Amino acid sequence: MRTQIGIVGAGPAGLTLAMLLHKAGIDTVVLENRDRAYVEKRVRAGLLEQNTVDLLHELDVAERLDREGLRHNGIYLRYRDENHYVDMAGLTGRHITIYGQQEVVKDLTNALLDGGVEVKFEVKDVQLHDIDSDHPKITYEHGGQAHELTCDAVAGCDGFHGVSRPTISQHITEYDYTYPFGWLGILAEAPPATEELIYAWHADGFALYTMRSQKISRLYLQVQADDDIDNWPDDRIWSELQTRLGNVNEGNIFDKGITPMRSYVAEPMQHGRLFLAGDSAHIVPPTGAKGLNLAVNDVRLLAPALSDLITQNNSDRADGYTPAALRRVWRAQDFSNYMTQMLHDLGGGPFQRRMQLARLEYVARSEAAARSLAENYVGLRAEPEF
Ligand code: FAD
Ligand code: PHB
Repeated sequence: MRTQIGIVGAGPAGLTLAMLLHKAGIDTVVLENRDRAYVEKRVRAGLLEQNTVDLLHELDVAERLDREGLRHNGIYLRYRDENHYVDMAGLTGRHITIYGQQEVVKDLTNALLDGGVEVKFEVKDVQLHDIDSDHPKITYEHGGQAHELTCDAVAGCDGFHGVSRPTISQHITEYDYTYPFGWLGILAEAPPATEELIYAWHADGFALYTMRSQKISRLYLQVQADDDIDNWPDDRIWSELQTRLGNVNEGNIFDKGITPMRSYVAEPMQHGRLFLAGDSAHIVPPTGAKGLNLAVNDVRLLAPALSDLITQNNSDRADGYTPAALRRVWRAQDFSNYMTQMLHDLGGGPFQRRMQLARLEYVARSEAAARSLAENYVGLRAEPEF
């Protein structure tokens, strides 16, 4: 089998790239190792930057997002049991939108399949070959049969635990930091008690009040990195949320899990004709809500680079992909780290905790500080391609 661009992974990066390439008239095949229902149910991010929303509009996949997405103007920072509003829209003229990552994934998958693009689920044993040549190959198993897909280039969009990055591990430098805590996240059938997100600093640790709709709340608690979800019966979760967030509407919890917190960057994001995008190349702690948005920005840059490379044999933009993508990645690393360090119990004792309150008070009192936070949170404007 042959295609122009082989895409490994049907997460936000792989599906958005497939859609961008499809619109540019380039042939792709997307290979995903999980089944479709699993990918569409996997609960992850929820906050979209305006750049991401704009791109989904350009791709004509924003109809349901426009109907069901919750457009927010700002966030609350909570400390000493009081909420302080950061008016992002007022400070930047830009908005953020709450819309579940799995909804973005569903909308993109439907649009791709409707457009005749091949998205293959439940493929096994994906391996990449000859990526130093002009015709890299992907081998995999599907429906009990071995397949070989010859491509002009391969996009590794298979997340942090995929096969793409390990294929080029000798050619990359890794920057890595693991935080000594994680996030316990729940989804609950409860109307959110707040219209906009609350990021809470608390003596017991960080908490975040977010949502998926007028009826569904999404809430997070800072927990030990090696904590076990079995240590957290529902009563304990609600009690900790009430303590850290003040006023929380309770309801049936229908999803819960613990996520480790990590900062990671692989440089460069390309070797030969293999290009990494999204979590396969970088991870940020979720406090800045940047992971999905970075994945989408990567492929916004990657699609025209791949198009030039394979249709005009011009590698200028492909060569510029790593530095262009990394500019935003490192900005987001710094911002996510800043938000994480300001709000979590880092274990450094009372002096460190007072310093965090001083930082929070600065954001609440100074328009310059609030504007800087807001500009990063809503996302810097997308740079012209290269
Ligand atoms: P993924 O979504 O991981 O997709 C990779 C795909 O590749 C998956 O479908 C996987 O099954 C598939 N795959 C893996 N290995 C293989 C293989 N060997 N062969 C074939 N397919 C394979 N980001 C935000 O922007 N805003 C937020 O509010 C936010 N909140 C978050 C909250 C939590 C609790 C978590 C965990 C993450 C959050 N993120 C957030 C991060 C965001 O979810 C990720 O950055 C995003 O999923 C990255 O997309 P991706 O397509 O690069 O990778
Ligand atoms: C979410 O809605 O899941 C969410 C929002 C903001 C974050 C992280 C997660 O910083």
